Amino acid sequence: MCGIVGAIAQRDVAEILLEGLRRLEYRGYDSAGLAVVSEPGQLQRLRRLGKVQALADAMIGPLAGGTGIAHTRWATHGEPSERNAHPHVSADSLAVVHNGIIENHQELKTALEQDGYRFSSDTDTEVIAHMVHKARQTGLSLFAAVRATAKQLRGAYGTVVLDSEEPDKLVVARSGSPLVIGLGIGENFIASDSLALLPVTRQFIYLEEGDVAEITRNTVYIEDARGNPVERPAQESTASYDAGNKGGYRHFMLKEIYDQPQAVRNALESRLAEDHVLDQAFGTQAGDVFARVKHVQIVACGTSYHSAMVARYWLESLAGISCSVEIASEYRYRKPVVLPDSLLVTISQSGETADTLAALRMARHLGYLATLAVCNVGASSLVRESDLAFMTRAGVEIGVASTKAFTTQLVGLAILVLALGQHNDINPLLLTEMVGALKSLPEQLEETLTLAPDIEKLAEEFADKHHTLFLGRGDQYPIAMEGALKLKEISYIHAEAYAAGELKHGPLALIDEDMPIVVIAPNNELLEKLKSNVEEVRARGGILYVFADRDAQFASDETMRVINLPHTHPWMAPVVYTLPLQLLSYYVAIIKGTDVDQPRNLAKSVTVE
Ligand code: G6P
Repeated sequence: MCGIVGAIAQRDVAEILLEGLRRLEYRGYDSAGLAVVSEPGQLQRLRRLGKVQALADAMIGPLAGGTGIAHTRWATHGEPSERNAHPHVSADSLAVVHNGIIENHQELKTALEQDGYRFSSDTDTEVIAHMVHKARQTGLSLFAAVRATAKQLRGAYGTVVLDSEEPDKLVVARSGSPLVIGLGIGENFIASDSLALLPVTRQFIYLEEGDVAEITRNTVYIEDARGNPVERPAQESTASYDAGNKGGYRHFMLKEIYDQPQAVRNALESRLAEDHVLDQAFGTQAGDVFARVKHVQIVACGTSYHSAMVARYWLESLAGISCSVEIASEYRYRKPVVLPDSLLVTISQSGETADTLAALRMARHLGYLATLAVCNVGASSLVRESDLAFMTRAGVEIGVASTKAFTTQLVGLAILVLALGQHNDINPLLLTEMVGALKSLPEQLEETLTLAPDIEKLAEEFADKHHTLFLGRGDQYPIAMEGALKLKEISYIHAEAYAAGELKHGPLALIDEDMPIVVIAPNNELLEKLKSNVEEVRARGGILYVFADRDAQFASDETMRVINLPHTHPWMAPVVYTLPLQLLSYYVAIIKGTDVDQPRNLAKSVTVE
């Protein structure tokens, strides 16, 4: 999704802006641009379709100027093109970058056209530039003009406005899309994600919904949604400066796959005792809430939704608590019936996914006992707006296709299931066994990663295929869905997942030698059932690729390739069996030569509906 960077300093800021954009590239985008003020009244703008590097290459000599804004655009209104790239300008003097969607832009545009404004793009953003310009013409300061404009905008936005007539300030407004102010010494910054600013500062002020702020080199002035001046505390980021580096790996995705043993270690740290889990991992009030929970509703999107589906199996079987799971974009537009003593759980890597956030906000009025976010970003809107939170501590995830965020979500959800179970008479022996199983996960993940060379070989058999089927049963069905999603996302091969018991109700008709079938077969209580499903496929000439427990007794032959995984506790198998599927997608994508970290048309964090 779109990314914003802005800076106001005594030095030239173009390089800071470009570096910031590079660090936001992982979010997915189609064009990039920046504008700086070289001297009062002199606005210089540069935009390019394609990568940030194309923008950097277009800068012949350094662009001078201490005040600037920059943007990576992910098209919503208007095709990806240079004319639709941000910043958008009004009267060649005022420039705007914007994330999100202005829903009433058409009516605002019609009114502006009647006032004589000419539009040079198809974007919704351009109305902001002309509206602020128009408000300035009535004598309003830049701050007042942005505030007045923001009042008329409907939708979700984070926007930064620069006026070359007042080059000593940037004015920003937040409603629905995150913005963070970075504090320097004699210089200040703004961005849609603090990661963009780590090379220049670690002190951040996170703006709240409805805030409008004016940033100069030495001051930050913020008004809240009601127009009252407010002080928002600065927070120090502990993210590593190198969070955006590949650490010697060919792609971020590969690095993040290999990060998983350590990420899981971090997710477990200080959350487990010898024979129970700590409620406090979810916040100080968690114990009181958990003691009352009778039902759990989970809401999420994409990969996070798949972790929710695994949690449903766990919650009902281990903790004896009923659980429903729904995609956020569906849930937010229903009129759900909330059962008494229900806990709403949202899951999100970024904590900024528009549908998940909207579902949380909608659900707040429905009578839930409490809301709990499972999230990777502590300063995100989702965490800040939830009563309780579990931080997954996966570290910054850059690859668009989610990997370590998913496995650490599973860990967080397993801890949640056990925490709820502790308040619901879970068998103490089972609880101790599960705590042990969680503790042994990092080593099992390390062992599983040693299978990479075998999986790389296997990938060769997929690269020329157009369709693939993934099969699993029980808590491995969502893992099959996640495996299929990974393959789709980065190799562009159509992939579908089926609960293996459903095969005979349709998909068997698709089976032939051109449709590889991936089977996930840990040694659990459904293994024998799964084996029957495998035979159904073999009998119809299908070629099988089976990821199985060593003891599951599958043998490779001309129609079946078997990759044996280490023994794992059956309840932890969803975490372990995810890794080979991630590696399979990765190596297929490598053979196909796709853009692994930034697959076409996709964004890391979907902050628009
Ligand atoms: C996008 C990403 C996915 C991610 C989904 C939900 O589609 O490409 O990788 O799973 O958003 O994101 P979240 O940050 O809410 O987990």
